[in-house]
Amino acid sequence: MANRGNFSGRIGFILAAAGSAVGLGNIWRFPYLAGENGGAIFLLVYLGCILLLCYPVMVGEIAIGRAANSDAYGSYNKLGGKKWGYLGLFGIIAGILILSFYNVVAGWAFGYFLHISFGDLLNLQDFGGFFGAFVNDILDVSSAHGLANSNLIFSLFFMVFTAIIVSQGIQKGIEASNKIMMPSLYLILLGIIVYSLTLPNAFSGVKFYLVPDFSELKIQTVVDGLKQAFFSLSLGMGALITYGSYLSKKENITSSAAVISIADTSVAFFSGLMVFPLVHFLAFKLNINPTEIGTSGPPLIFVVLPQIFHEMGPILGRIIGGSFFLLVCFAALTSTISLLEVPVAYLVDQKKYNRKGVVWAMALIIFVCGLPSMVSQGMMPALNKLGFYRGQDFLTFISDMSDICLTVGGCLMSIFISRRWGIHNMDAELANGNNNYMTSRVRKFLHITLKWIAPILLGFLSIVIILEKFFGIENLI
Ligand code: PFF
Repeated sequence: MANRGNFSGRIGFILAAAGSAVGLGNIWRFPYLAGENGGAIFLLVYLGCILLLCYPVMVGEIAIGRAANSDAYGSYNKLGGKKWGYLGLFGIIAGILILSFYNVVAGWAFGYFLHISFGDLLNLQDFGGFFGAFVNDILDVSSAHGLANSNLIFSLFFMVFTAIIVSQGIQKGIEASNKIMMPSLYLILLGIIVYSLTLPNAFSGVKFYLVPDFSELKIQTVVDGLKQAFFSLSLGMGALITYGSYLSKKENITSSAAVISIADTSVAFFSGLMVFPLVHFLAFKLNINPTEIGTSGPPLIFVVLPQIFHEMGPILGRIIGGSFFLLVCFAALTSTISLLEVPVAYLVDQKKYNRKGVVWAMALIIFVCGLPSMVSQGMMPALNKLGFYRGQDFLTFISDMSDICLTVGGCLMSIFISRRWGIHNMDAELANGNNNYMTSRVRKFLHITLKWIAPILLGFLSIVIILEKFFGIENLI
């Protein structure tokens, strides 16, 4: 296929794929899931999921994309026939769903970045009240805080940034932006960790995070660990098939996938190392028990952290808080571009549309699809408490549905490799760029996991996740 674009080399690919992986999932979702699931024990389960299930699925996805040299639909279609093409389409739809709500949360982060950098958010008394009003009133342009306070506009901006980058193509857009944002993200993260470790009571947070308490191990921990690992590594929906299709045959997929997994896991790990010392510092300042600070759910970074930045004083609070939300924006943007690239690649490869036109059209459609999630945070009561979904809001519903799509997609992908495309074909693809692959232990490991462990475990856990979402896990056990 002529002129699809490609990454300039290994580093460009790794940074872009790690950029896709590192996102709100690492900084926004990982710490609160860890907080809810006993800290260190969650970390252990999460690492187990990455090694045993996610790494093989990632290698498989990249191999499919590179072998077929096409988008998610085109790759399954080419290697497995038209019926399997539907699996690619399923992934593309899942990507659209994810981007629709993800862009809303990214817009909040962008709004918070502006508010904290301009200092107005740090003067507040009631951070929870501000967040509630902020997500509720999506069109408040009254400039009450010196800035337009509309998360509709923040999220529109975010989609525009995403579209500008994707419209520039693979090397000039996706690769170039990741080469700037990913190193900056690591630097900011490490800077904040170093600072947070100097705060009073920081090490009590480190202890909570790093010393496992095995009595906390429950089936919910495993379910949450797996969902999070899949989401965090951008697996199961064709993002890595698409990026893999732009990778040269000279590059080593198994080692690149290992670097991507480590890069992503380290950011999740470091985010916890940043957040828990901060939370324990706040507990110390307010003279309360850390467990009294609500670290569960989305409010962790939008309510608890701003309160901590407030405690740091007007200047440091602005610097540390502003850097933190810039970090979140970079992480989100490197992910939104990979999410937008999935349907764009499909329309460019299969329908032969012009890239720039498709990018803007898809960005607009997905932005509009995100509006129900945006108004579901209080503005529209019918979407705030869905009767058929145990009274949860629409954004949570879409986010949960995409978790299901990812694990189901990963399960079907491993079945595709082992029962349809053929594991020997995957081997042949992985041997490109890796002379030792055929005799390596990684090969044996991939065979066992993709043939047996991944289909069975992912199938089982997907069913548990579906039951959990619709009926509540407490009712299952
Ligand atoms: N991995 C991203 C995160 O952790 O925030 C989310 C994501 C991006 C999921 C791209 C799927 C995807 F294709």
